[in-house]
Amino acid sequence: MKTRVLVAYASRYGSTQEVARAIADTLRENSFEVDLKPIQDVKSLEEYTAVVLGAPLYMVHWHKDAHKFLSWHRENLTKMPVAIFALGPLNDEEEEWKEVRAQLDKELAKFPWIRPVAAEIFGGKLDPEKLRFPDNLISRLPASPIHNKPASDLRDWAAIRAWASSLAARFQSALPQ
Ligand SMILES: Cc1cc2nc3c(=O)[nH]c(=O)nc-3n(C[C@H](O)[C@H](O)[C@H](O)COP(=O)(O)O)c2cc1C
Repeated sequence: MKTRVLVAYASRYGSTQEVARAIADTLRENSFEVDLKPIQDVKSLEEYTAVVLGAPLYMVHWHKDAHKFLSWHRENLTKMPVAIFALGPLNDEEEEWKEVRAQLDKELAKFPWIRPVAAEIFGGKLDPEKLRFPDNLISRLPASPIHNKPASDLRDWAAIRAWASSLAARFQSALPQ
């Protein structure tokens, strides 16, 4: 029987959605059956054997839909392998990656019952011209980390696909034989 995986994501401006799609495609190439859905469209996890959950960080917090997903589906999520990713860093500097890792760790600590088989951070994308309220206002504040920041895209597609491929083995070893 094929392992059926749900890739559930939250995204404000589409960059996390594109990463989720690349992960879903890579899992399909690795012989998984995969559904790709925004978190809001996920009603039940009954038909899945494993889950990938992805969401961006905003103002040091993981997207609220990721919190809701973990709360709503707690019972099922404790019975299956779960892999997690977050988008965030906009500067390729070691210090920023460390900070973002700490942000995600802090968010996941709010759900101590979850034991992800993997929890990864990928670089984010920023297009200042496309920001909507309140992000466009936040970007104008001199104290904001994205103040005057030019457009950037730190998503490393090779790393994203490699991570998705590595999930095949992690899911298999976490599932009952
Ligand atoms: C207003 C704003 C605040 C942000 N705050 C953070 C943050 O606290 N930590 C972080 O790692 N990334 C932060 N980011 C970067 C986003 O996580 C990144 O742009 C991501 O790719 C957005 O994903 P989306 O296009 O799926 O919404 C912020 C971006 C904006 C526009």
